[in-house]
Parts: sequence; structure tokens; C-alpha cells
Amino acid sequence: MMINNMRLQNFRNYENETIQFMPGTNILIGDNGQGKTNIIEGIYYLLTGKSYRVHREQELLRWDQSEFHLYGDFLMNDRKVSLESHYKDKRKMVKINKVSCQRLSDFVGTINVIFFSPDDLVMIKGGPSERRRFLDLHIAQMRPGHVSILNAYNKVIQQKSALLKSFTDKHLKYSQLQLWNEQIIELGEKIILNRADLTQRLQDAADPIYGNLSSKKEKLMILYYALGKRTANEAISEFPKLLNDKLDQEIERQMVLVGPHRDDLQILLNNKPARLYASQGQQRSLVLSLKLAELEIIRQEKGEYPLLLLDDVLSELDRFRRDYLIKFIESSHIQTLITMTSADNHLELGTLYFVEQGHIRRET
Ligand SMILES: Nc1ncnc2c1ncn2[C@@H]1O[C@H](COP(=O)(O)OP(=O)(O)OP(=O)(O)O)[C@@H](O)[C@H]1O
Ligand SMILES: [Mg+2]
Repeated sequence: MMINNMRLQNFRNYENETIQFMPGTNILIGDNGQGKTNIIEGIYYLLTGKSYRVHREQELLRWDQSEFHLYGDFLMNDRKVSLESHYKDKRKMVKINKVSCQRLSDFVGTINVIFFSPDDLVMIKGGPSERRRFLDLHIAQMRPGHVSILNAYNKVIQQKSALLKSFTDKHLKYSQLQLWNEQIIELGEKIILNRADLTQRLQDAADPIYGNLSSKKEKLMILYYALGKRTANEAISEFPKLLNDKLDQEIERQMVLVGPHRDDLQILLNNKPARLYASQGQQRSLVLSLKLAELEIIRQEKGEYPLLLLDDVLSELDRFRRDYLIKFIESSHIQTLITMTSADNHLELGTLYFVEQGHIRRET
């Protein structure tokens, strides 16, 4: 997959700027605060309908402006795909090949993208919600229906939670809770199966990569604990019982205690949780392995590598890991966008773009 060009209008610090990208590695170079990350964010937004930095589109609007436009031309299996994203009056509109999309799931996953920045360490260091988000974002790119399932599931959880907090007749409450539980099971099972499937694929792809990155031969294990159980099948067969067993406790604590909204992904190095025991360097290698595994999984699924966006990543890696990453990108011919500051060593590996105060100039 490839991005050929993109136009940003009133997006962040861009008034109206067009960039032509090249196959292979594209390096966005510039001092701090010039707009390198904003380009990466623009591409990510165009492809996923979301920013990874902010929740509200309002912040993406160039100051004092009321609407922004993003346009991009992409290639997928040698087919051209054009995407357009328009935000105005708190409404977002997306067009794919000039046809309006009704829902996010109509275009997410058309062109895949893997984004990697130093903030991704939260996948290891952060709480379970960060790891669930990581899984869900990846699944959404391969199976866009996952987004609708998650949204429906979250609504049910909200409604059940509201019921738990309300004062109704106890018997009535029980029967209503049972109804919500049936929906929690139906939607929750799909979420669990999707996450368990991806986790297995991540494990298979990431373990050999981590092996190459670590000097000591450490074993990487990635396990998805659905409902606290070791396998998805076990979780699913015990789901109704677990919900029933916790019903009184849920009423007492006024919280939804059972379901995949509380699941975690365990990342283990030599059987020990990486979050608690892995060193800073090991954690970086883990994240890098997971990101490269994601690239492989998308290639297996779609027959082509996704776009790779690397924001401030190279300067954070030591030489060995940096060389490994660069070799991987070069040998697999993944189209990659890399940001770096002028202070970094210029790498002789791709096309250079100079970014200065919201203007972009390609080196000729
Ligand atoms: N909504 C907005 N409207 C206009 N300008 C904005 C908006 N949001 C951010 N900016 C400006 O964009 C610039 C930041 O851009 P960006 O994050 O892309 O920088 P960068 O080149 O990646 O820098 P660094 O090397 O520090 O990461 C800042 O100057 C900021 O003031
Ligand atoms: Mg930046």
C-alpha cells in the first residue's frame, strides 16, 4: 500500500499544502514545532477517522478556522483509492473515491497504516485499557465490523451500569439485568474471539522478531486473558455462569464487573510480566517487535504491507535496533514516513522533505 500525495487545508499549522510522496522511505526533517508530526497525524486521521493525539476534531482545526479538509491519493494492489476528509460545524464527512461514507466502518481498513511513536511504550507500561486499545485498533483495520461490535457492546455496558446505579424494584432489576447480560454475552463473545485470534497471531509473529532483537535469548509470550481465563473457549463457555455468580456483587458495587471491557493482554518475558520486570531497553524492543509483527499480520491478511508512520522513533532507538528496523523497512519495501529533527544524522536512505512553519519542500 502506498500514499502518492496528500493535501492539507486548514489542518493544524497547514493552511494549504500539498505533498507528493515517493515509494520507499520518506524523511520529514525540520526543527521542533514546524509541522512534521502534523503531517503524520493528518495521514493517520485520513485513514482511521481518528487522531491518536486528541479526541476532539476542534483541536485539529487551524486556529481561527471553521473547517478543515484532508485529501489523499493511495495505491492498494495497484488500484487507486482517493480519500477525502472534511470537518465542519462539529460534523465529519468522509468520501472514498468521491462517494460519501455513512459510517467509519465504510472506509477504515481500506488502506492500512501502522503508526509508531515513543508514546507506544504505554502498551507495556500502561494499564490494561492501553493494551485493549492496541488490540482493538489493529482488529478494526482488518475487520471494520469490530468497531460496530465494540460500540454496541459499550452502549450495553453503559446501560447496564446505569441500571445498577438506579433504585428500582429488586425483582424487576434482576430480570432487566438478565436481559442486558444476554446482550453482553452475544457481543462480548465476538470481541473475545477477535482479540484472542489477533493475540495468537501477534505471538507467532513477534516472538522470532524479539529473539533477533535481544542478545539474550528471552522468550516472549503474549497472552490474552479473557474474563480471567487462559483460553477464549474456556472464557466463552463460562461466560453465563461468571455473569450470574457476580450479579449480587455487581448490584452491591454498582459496577459491571464481568466482560471483555475488563480484559488484559499479558506480555511476558521469560514468563514474567514485562510491565513489572522488563528494562527500558527490553520494553523498547518489545514494542518494536509488536509493531513489526503488526506489519506482518496485515501483509498476511491483505497481501500487501500497510503504510508505516514513524514519529520520532529513530532517535529513541539504540544503534542495533535502529539498524534492524531500517534493514527491515528496506528489505520489505514498505513505504515509510519518518520524522526527524535537523539535529539527527541525516540518513541516506530515502527522499528528504524539509518542513518549516507549515511549508514542505522536497529535496531535489
Ligand atoms: N490547531 C492548530 N492550529 C495551528 N497551529 C497548530 C495547531 N495545533 C498545533 N499547531 C502548531 O503546530 C506546531 C507543532 O507541529 P508538530 O507537532 O507537527 O511539530 P513537529 O515538527 O513534529 O515538532 P517536534 O520536532 O517538536 O516534534 C506548533 O508550532 C503548534 O503551535
Ligand atoms: Mg513531532
